[in-house]
Amino acid sequence: MTAAGAAAAPVRRPAAAPLGPMAEPAPGRTVALDLVAAERPRSLPCFGGRTLPLWTFSETDVLPVVRMRLGDRLRTRLVNALPRAGEHTSIHWHGIRLPNAEDGVPYLTQPPTAVGASHTYDFEPPDTGSFFFHTHCNTAEQLGRGLAGLLIVEGDETEPYDGEVVLAMRDWRIGEDGGFLPFLTDRGASGAGSFGTVRSVNGAPFAAATVPALADVRLRLYNIDASRVVTVGIEGAEAAVVAVDGVAVAPFPLAAWTLGPAMRVDVVVRTPAAGGRAVVHDLRPAKPVVLATLSAEGPAVRAGAFDPAPLRRARIPEPDLGAAERLPFAVSTTATGAAVGASLGDGPALPGIDDLCLSDRTFWAINKAAWPADGHRSLPPPLAVLRRGATYVIELANTTRHIHPIHMHGHTVKVLSSNERPLPVHHADTVLLYPKERVEVAFVADNPGDWMIHCHLIEHQETGMMGYVRVA
Ligand code: C2O
Ligand code: CU
Repeated sequence: MTAAGAAAAPVRRPAAAPLGPMAEPAPGRTVALDLVAAERPRSLPCFGGRTLPLWTFSETDVLPVVRMRLGDRLRTRLVNALPRAGEHTSIHWHGIRLPNAEDGVPYLTQPPTAVGASHTYDFEPPDTGSFFFHTHCNTAEQLGRGLAGLLIVEGDETEPYDGEVVLAMRDWRIGEDGGFLPFLTDRGASGAGSFGTVRSVNGAPFAAATVPALADVRLRLYNIDASRVVTVGIEGAEAAVVAVDGVAVAPFPLAAWTLGPAMRVDVVVRTPAAGGRAVVHDLRPAKPVVLATLSAEGPAVRAGAFDPAPLRRARIPEPDLGAAERLPFAVSTTATGAAVGASLGDGPALPGIDDLCLSDRTFWAINKAAWPADGHRSLPPPLAVLRRGATYVIELANTTRHIHPIHMHGHTVKVLSSNERPLPVHHADTVLLYPKERVEVAFVADNPGDWMIHCHLIEHQETGMMGYVRVA
């Protein structure tokens, strides 16, 4: 493939090509981002007139949206101005295959950023796509209060679509008195999560977007909630999935696509004729919930049948399945302290570690090891030590009655199969495991360092369902 030429020339898609040519970075610029984690009281449309003491990264936006091109560098200065003594923080760049030192996991990849301190993250995202960032410390509360943002790396469109709408879904835990409810509860943490009382899309009860008529419009759908699983369906328009977790897939019709916490999907819709409306629903509740309305306006943009242009292929190394080593990872409940005690490793003691990043409760485990071990004073040993460059097949087995979105840092996995449902071939950084389901994923361990693997139902993560692999 002559990458540079292909990127510059207009791309015509051969009928049989399921994906565009590989996305190649062009020499870019450095995007400077200043984030100040602080309390900022805000009244969002979804709050119904109430003002809540949100914690956000940006003075101007509750959910900042950072856009850059493939080939650009992102240099972020994070200042911790949170209002509570000891409330250290960090930023994890979810889904980005970045160098380990930039991964934002306190104690594992960096010291936590104390109140009053700052930390700089500097990396060039290697992939295009719909990513996001969030704190990785006291996450139930810090994310619950708002600390997150979206990171969109452009450069994946083979033919530009006619418009784009970003939809970020999350709940807020607001009590009768108008204040926040506890972000972590024993009941939620040991069950399906503490759901929010107020749902939102882009800070409103639902998003109302105006789109060009009879046009191919890209939707970037994000589930950034800590607990809620959403099943996206679209009524009143043809729609196709073009990317999962930011990675291009050969376009396939969208019937319903389920997003666990932290999962994303990019969809292209052929919008209705002028005056028409398409509706994005969450089909999971008994009565579907409206997430967005797309109202079509203006002259028709396209005439032919709906055949959305595919995105460019990602530069993710192809696993060598013939040579793969298999790693069974079972997620389970940890009922007793004895079981937790038996799983303790003899990792190094961490000076200065405290309980803030880690809950005292351990309800969950991966391969019978619950995080954190030993009263949070030591890192457990890695779940596995992987050989750099080798292919691994992780057999994710859910032995529990609950759903778990399992997220791996630093790598994007190829989802191979489920024992319960047909899955299109796709890549992901977060894989939803249904109760008792087993899913196999493969990846090349090409990124050296210690990488978290954990449930992204944040209360599960904070009550034990977390570990790491070491790529050496
Ligand atoms: Cu989005 Cu370790 O998480
Ligand atoms: Cu879980």
